[in-house]
Amino acid sequence: MVAAALALLSGCTVRQEADTLRVGLALYQQEDTFISGVVQEMERLAREEESRSDLKINLSIADGDSSQALQLDQVERFLDGGCHVLCVNMVDRTAASLVIDYAKEAGVPVVFFNRQPVEEDLRRWEQVYYVGPRGEQSGVYQGEIVLEAMARNPERVDRNGDGVLQYVMLEGEPGHQDALLRTEYSIRTITQAGVAVEQLASASANWSRGQAAARMEPWWQEFGQEIEVIFANNDDMALGAIDVLTQAGVEPEDMPLVVGVDGTPEAIAAMEAGTLAGTVQNAQEMPQVLMDLVMALYRGESADTVAQVDDEHYIWLPYRKILPNQIP
Ligand code: GAL
Repeated sequence: MVAAALALLSGCTVRQEADTLRVGLALYQQEDTFISGVVQEMERLAREEESRSDLKINLSIADGDSSQALQLDQVERFLDGGCHVLCVNMVDRTAASLVIDYAKEAGVPVVFFNRQPVEEDLRRWEQVYYVGPRGEQSGVYQGEIVLEAMARNPERVDRNGDGVLQYVMLEGEPGHQDALLRTEYSIRTITQAGVAVEQLASASANWSRGQAAARMEPWWQEFGQEIEVIFANNDDMALGAIDVLTQAGVEPEDMPLVVGVDGTPEAIAAMEAGTLAGTVQNAQEMPQVLMDLVMALYRGESADTVAQVDDEHYIWLPYRKILPNQIP
């Protein structure tokens, strides 16, 4: 009242100090193409929300640099700094129990995303959520992309006409649910449709374009045009394989069928250039759902006001197939 009276006397309006929502956003690795896309979009949404309301949103980002010990320190720092909600993209998804225990002690809700903790850990506390898509769906879609290409143009895919798809598999990080599930379900979808496959080679390239190129190089030397399909657990690795083919002077129409996951802008460009046969958009809604959930938890609202919550902890988001003739 005194302030208001003084303001009135001095002819100024009283400016209320805006409430600040402090969000701690812990990333496994900030350089990751897909993750950095999610974060950029969250930042944009936070600014948009600020312009709509009186709330100030302080999104603090910590890069775990692939070290679980470092990420735990960062989480502790967020909690000590009085963050209201934690969003965590675990380095080691089996280590979530420690994060949950710290957060529970501080009474701060935790939203995990993209790297799925084990169910037992999510059940440690009711204020814990996981936001992400179901990895197996992306594998099924990759398999379908290959089957559909084969149905349209069998000679383009099964080049040697032996009725068997010779393939190589570029896998994501070992132990990551998406690497395991995409590897398994892409192939299973094809064999369940009655098409035989033969694996020529398979290795992890840790989601990385450079590592995928390093894997692809010797495979291309060894198998060359025997390779009919290149499955990559994500787009960056698909692009790494394409880099090797391009450098070897292979024309897009002579390349094996390459499929990825994520739907990154560079992958879309590769589809337009005719080098990538298809990809799977990875949970486009993730940034929006994360921001909405953060806002709801901050306001003490229940998570199901934002999206359907399965088994009390899971918000599942869809994947979508993207083909060269259906670029969104
Ligand atoms: C996957 C995504 C990869 C990588 C990984 C990180 O879902 O397809 O590109 O971002 O998550 O956890």
